[in-house]
Amino acid sequence: MSGGRRLGRVWRRRGPLRTRLALSVTAAVALVAVGVCAAAYLVVRSALYEQLDLSLTQSARLAAQRNPGSAPGVLAGECRFLAAPACPEVVPAARKVAAGRHAPYYTNITVAGHPARMLTTDYAGGRALQVALRADTVRDGIEEAARWLVLTAAAGVLLAALLGYWVSRTGLAPVARLTATAERIAATRDARHRIELPPPGREDEITRLATSFNTMLAELEQSIAAQRRLVADASHELRTPLTALRTNAELLARADRLTPDQRERASAALGRQLREVTGLVGDLIELARDEEPQPLVEQVRLGTLVEHCAQAARTHWPAVPFHVRVPAEPVVVPGVPARLSRLLGNLLDNAAKFSPAGLPVEVDLTAAAPGRGPELTVRDHGPGISPQDLPHVFDRFYRAGTARALPGSGLGLAMARQIARAHAADLTAEPAPGGGALFRVTF
Ligand SMILES: Nc1ncnc2c1ncn2[C@@H]1O[C@H](COP(=O)(O)OP(=O)(O)OP(=O)(O)O)[C@@H](O)[C@H]1O
Ligand SMILES: [Mg+2]
Repeated sequence: MSGGRRLGRVWRRRGPLRTRLALSVTAAVALVAVGVCAAAYLVVRSALYEQLDLSLTQSARLAAQRNPGSAPGVLAGECRFLAAPACPEVVPAARKVAAGRHAPYYTNITVAGHPARMLTTDYAGGRALQVALRADTVRDGIEEAARWLVLTAAAGVLLAALLGYWVSRTGLAPVARLTATAERIAATRDARHRIELPPPGREDEITRLATSFNTMLAELEQSIAAQRRLVADASHELRTPLTALRTNAELLARADRLTPDQRERASAALGRQLREVTGLVGDLIELARDEEPQPLVEQVRLGTLVEHCAQAARTHWPAVPFHVRVPAEPVVVPGVPARLSRLLGNLLDNAAKFSPAGLPVEVDLTAAAPGRGPELTVRDHGPGISPQDLPHVFDRFYRAGTARALPGSGLGLAMARQIARAHAADLTAEPAPGGGALFRVTF
């Protein structure tokens, strides 16, 4: 494994995200600061030398004009005053310049402890001319610039570190809030907590994450509340039939003191109550189930299903005529046939139960039209649903005051709506024109 890859792994594994973000921002900004300062240093240095080099070229030309053809030796300038030994010795490169085999060049030299810059250029007659100028000011200038640039770079690195820290703090603050909320929920098992969101208009990726997290929490909270309510309602609703059951069972326990007629009635009541409780418990179990199991979903021919359900209802309610109208062409929806039968069965059961004997129950299936799916309606000619009951008939255990005398637990429509939702269908109730109730399932 290469060193770079190993470093990358360590980078990914070690340390919290915040530290890594702070370090990368610091490194990036610091690198830029140092790079800019280094470039500035190079530019300043070359500019300062350029000026000096220009003066050197001019001096060389002047010296050559003033001393044309003079003998080799020291012509003018510092060297003359500072004595010859201070002058640099003649190097091979200078000889090459003299011979015309090398371009003129500049060197930095030290003359008697002073910095100087020297130009070696060719001079008439195969000789070389060396001109030097003191470079104290240039060197001081460069040193001064270097000092300032080092300071600037250091300040840049410091600023980069602060910036990195700040960016990681503010940039990751929403993540920290998200984590804190998630940890709080895990600790308290209370899904009512929410993550604070910034004011609208300042959304970013993390806000979107927080929003979906909140949505998820809301759904979780709702589902937990629904489960709790179901359990509470169920235990409450089961209490009454169970009490009646116990009373009858106790009565039958002393059967020797009852007349045969009383015994007969008590055991009939017991049987009926047992069936009711069994039905109620079955309904509750169905309601507690949420989604339709995917493997059971198939293409259901609604027409056949409607005919089948109506036939079953006819045997159950012989006194009620069920009028079924289905289109000639097959109407097919994806679904679980047993569940859809349950939905329709509950609607037919209600229609038959709440409408007077002899009046028809009308079941209509319409095929899908452009812009809407297939529709199924069940309509009766009974008393209908009063406006104040209408918003509640789909609630669990809700029964209108007038319905209390009839058998039932108020779970039928709740279950029907749940099945409809699981099939992406809409189940609604409305007063039928001319009296009665009308239930509509839109797929
Ligand atoms: N076709 C209808 N006509 C008039 N009222 C109705 C009709 N269908 C439902 N309702 C009203 O809505 C209430 C709820 O119906 P739902 O089917 O959920 O309960 P239920 O029929 O009373 O009991 P269950 O279906 O559990 O045996 C009923 O009690 C009744 O008041
Ligand atoms: Mg019902």
